Amino acid sequence: MDNTYCRRFEGKVVLIVGGAGGMGSVTAKEFAREGAEVVITDVDVSRMERVAEEIRSSGGRCTTIKCDVTVASEVKNTVDTVLSKFGKIDILVYFTGILGEVAPIWESSEENWDKVMNVNLKGAFLFCREVAKHMIKRREGKIITISSVAGKDPNPYMLAYDASKAGLIGFTRGLALELAPYNVNVNCVVPGITETPFLNFMTEEAKKRSASLVPLGRLGKPEEIAKVVLFLASDDASFVTGAAWNVTGGRCPY
Ligand SMILES: NC(=O)c1ccc[n+]([C@@H]2O[C@H](COP(=O)([O-])OP(=O)(O)OC[C@H]3O[C@@H](n4cnc5c(N)ncnc54)[C@H](O)[C@@H]3O)[C@@H](O)[C@H]2O)c1
Repeated sequence: MDNTYCRRFEGKVVLIVGGAGGMGSVTAKEFAREGAEVVITDVDVSRMERVAEEIRSSGGRCTTIKCDVTVASEVKNTVDTVLSKFGKIDILVYFTGILGEVAPIWESSEENWDKVMNVNLKGAFLFCREVAKHMIKRREGKIITISSVAGKDPNPYMLAYDASKAGLIGFTRGLALELAPYNVNVNCVVPGITETPFLNFMTEEAKKRSASLVPLGRLGKPEEIAKVVLFLASDDASFVTGAAWNVTGGRCPY
């Protein structure tokens, strides 16, 4: 652990949902490096344990809890477990998301629509609902959801994904208004296409084509998403709430 690194999150408890994923794992490591007590949750237990081990072996603190975000009882148990173990949740980050089928609407299944909506949108609702009850009582907290450039600038053949990510922006902005009187900041990060296992479905050629559409001329790195999440979770962003913050290399500049 680099002791000279800024430790903005000393004493803070951070719950990272989707913490085994490409962006979630890097963000978990950044929070741990800055002194946070990190809890990661995911369905992928082996990847989650690997991330936690990496954090602990470099001197950070990390606990894992298995949870399927689409099951309300598992979400409640996860939040209750964190609260009974650490007494509080200062920061919630909701990374969990799936792309689902890539197909025109006339070939798309109802099962896919429900699954994408449940993971990307309902899971965020379930986690925010449980954590908000706690943050309201403390009159303190930060919530950050992770949408996608597809939520502002949709792609064809992935309408469930487009709609879930646009919905997540609306959900986050509405929640920011509900929680503002309780001193809880709620913001959304809007990543552009970023190098993580999420892109495993794409060929190298397709990635190059996508990069050519980005004004900065390249894909994002998960560290670049993490830095913005940490900023929004920090005291430096105390007057930021209800924002949908682009990290897109200039794509979709609104
Ligand atoms: N990578 C990109 O290009 C990109 C671009 C824009 C937005 N995003 C969004 O950023 C977020 C993080 O993406 P990533 O690239 O890290 O993806 P990822 O696939 O690496 O991580 C997603 C994580 O969610 C977990 N997960 C899936 N279903 C779950 C469920 N039912 N319950 C609990 N956990 C579940 C997976 O196990 C995985 O660890 C996602 O919401 C994604 O939509 C990604």
